[in-house]
Amino acid sequence: MPTTLLESNLPGLDLIHRGKVRDVYALSDAELLIVASDRLSAFDVVLPDPIPGKGEMLCQISNFWFGRTAHLVPNHLTGKNVADVLPAGADASLYARRSVITKRLKPVPVEAIARGYLIGSGWKDYQATGQLCGIALPAGLRQAERLPQPIFTPSTKAAVGDHDENIGFDRVVELVGADLAEQVRAATLAIYTWAATFAAERGIIIADTKFEFGTDADGKLYVMDEMLTPDSSRFWPADEYRVGISPPSYDKQFVRDYLETLDWNKKAPGPRVPADVIAGTAAKYAEALRRLAGIAID
Ligand SMILES: Nc1ncnc2c1ncn2[C@@H]1O[C@H](COP(=O)(O)OP(=O)(O)OP(=O)(O)O)[C@@H](O)[C@H]1O
Ligand SMILES: [Mg+2]
Repeated sequence: MPTTLLESNLPGLDLIHRGKVRDVYALSDAELLIVASDRLSAFDVVLPDPIPGKGEMLCQISNFWFGRTAHLVPNHLTGKNVADVLPAGADASLYARRSVITKRLKPVPVEAIARGYLIGSGWKDYQATGQLCGIALPAGLRQAERLPQPIFTPSTKAAVGDHDENIGFDRVVELVGADLAEQVRAATLAIYTWAATFAAERGIIIADTKFEFGTDADGKLYVMDEMLTPDSSRFWPADEYRVGISPPSYDKQFVRDYLETLDWNKKAPGPRVPADVIAGTAAKYAEALRRLAGIAID
């Protein structure tokens, strides 16, 4: 049975960040404990009802990709055992499959996005300007069309309440320097290209995805945070893909569709979600995990 956790509670550990989904504890200057909760955010608002097992699925799918891509780009996982750092009395089974001990890195201050298809803000920017993050694209592309090759389309990390903004590569160079900017672009495209091929063989299109990178004290680059999850990526079932329409997605489409039927202003607090929508959303996460990673959650 998957466990359910809305908020972690680990007395004695130093909680440094409660994000929309994950709780981050500092174990030392060098290591973090990152706990994926079952919180679900939609339209940037955390909903009051957890999706049972979602945090476990997110953590397991990230771990799967980190393992599979370590030959391409080093990642933040230490491989250390979570049970060893939990305070006395904590329920280890609640944390075991949803937590990781990572290197504590200095975040590179951009969202490293790779796109293989033209959708979302990429499609909007292309319609307005014919370009995307300063990259000229062929004329006449349609919504959801596959790009001639995957592209690196960075964005700013917006403060809470703001929306991320697409930026050009030159802006990344200004922010982090040419050398690191080149490394981040190369790493982003290398992981995306590998993963997109892997997923395509399993009937899933990874339309786009967002990575976060960090550097250690020596300036070495690692991929960190979460990786290629339904929260950080657009996964499309290949058999439902059509150019010209926005394809149905794994992940939050289910709950978004429900929320669109409500008279809700998309501001906090979010509405309660009915049990069938919660179960349907959990099933979508489980399906992504099963199809991509071959991991069954019972
Ligand atoms: N290895 C790492 N070293 C340092 N910080 C990390 C590492 N891995 C992840 N992080 C940071 O931990 C946080 C994870 O929290 P989470 O993603 O839930 O919230 P958030 O990104 O702050 O906000 P949002 O809810 O918009 O995602 C992020 O700020 C991420 O940048
Ligand atoms: Mg985040």
